[in-house]
Amino acid sequence: LSIVTLISGRGSNFEAIVKTAQKEQWPVKFAGVIANHSAAKGLDFARSHGIPAFVIEHKEHSTRDSFDAALIQKIDELGADLVVLAGFMRILTPGFIRHFEGRLINIHPALLPAFPGLHTHERALEAGVKEHGATVHFVTEGVDEGPIICQASVPVLAGDDADTLAARVLRAEHQIYPRAVKWFLDGRLRIEGNQVKLQPPES
Ligand code: GRF
Repeated sequence: LSIVTLISGRGSNFEAIVKTAQKEQWPVKFAGVIANHSAAKGLDFARSHGIPAFVIEHKEHSTRDSFDAALIQKIDELGADLVVLAGFMRILTPGFIRHFEGRLINIHPALLPAFPGLHTHERALEAGVKEHGATVHFVTEGVDEGPIICQASVPVLAGDDADTLAARVLRAEHQIYPRAVKWFLDGRLRIEGNQVKLQPPES
């Protein structure tokens, strides 16, 4: 099976997935990484690991539709059984989401349905929640609303600021995103309505 990853920045989740796949010798092909601007750091990791890296500048497209059409074309050309959004900071059009429905996943830095959208760590601190975390979910048209695949929680500690909390959540992200991808590759994720039913492992 083939994975195409979309990133906008650092790409540490992408890196965690690739490293886990290598360590556990998953039968998977990382067909490519696409960033929406050339400064995305994660492109360097891809290149140094022999993973084809592409830039599709969103700024060179006057509409979301035209940007997303270019993305779709590239992803289809690469051949993706699974599209992994890993810190991809562009809102995708309904047309894009429908095209990849059921094989498009994202990681969000909060325990959904709490704190969808941006600035999750600041908002968690402001709300005074004692548990925060991350969620891997299938992408549907509602932003951060798709069926939840898995979550990890971390404590909010005295003295935390958004940065210390983000760092703790990021470590949890690096644990759960590879696991969720592996479940997908193993065919263990069945979507029923707005829920994912995790199937038991093949024995
Ligand atoms: C992560 O916190 C992810 O949850 C959020 O953006 C960040 C991306 O980090 N959507 P990285 O690029 O994977 O290092």
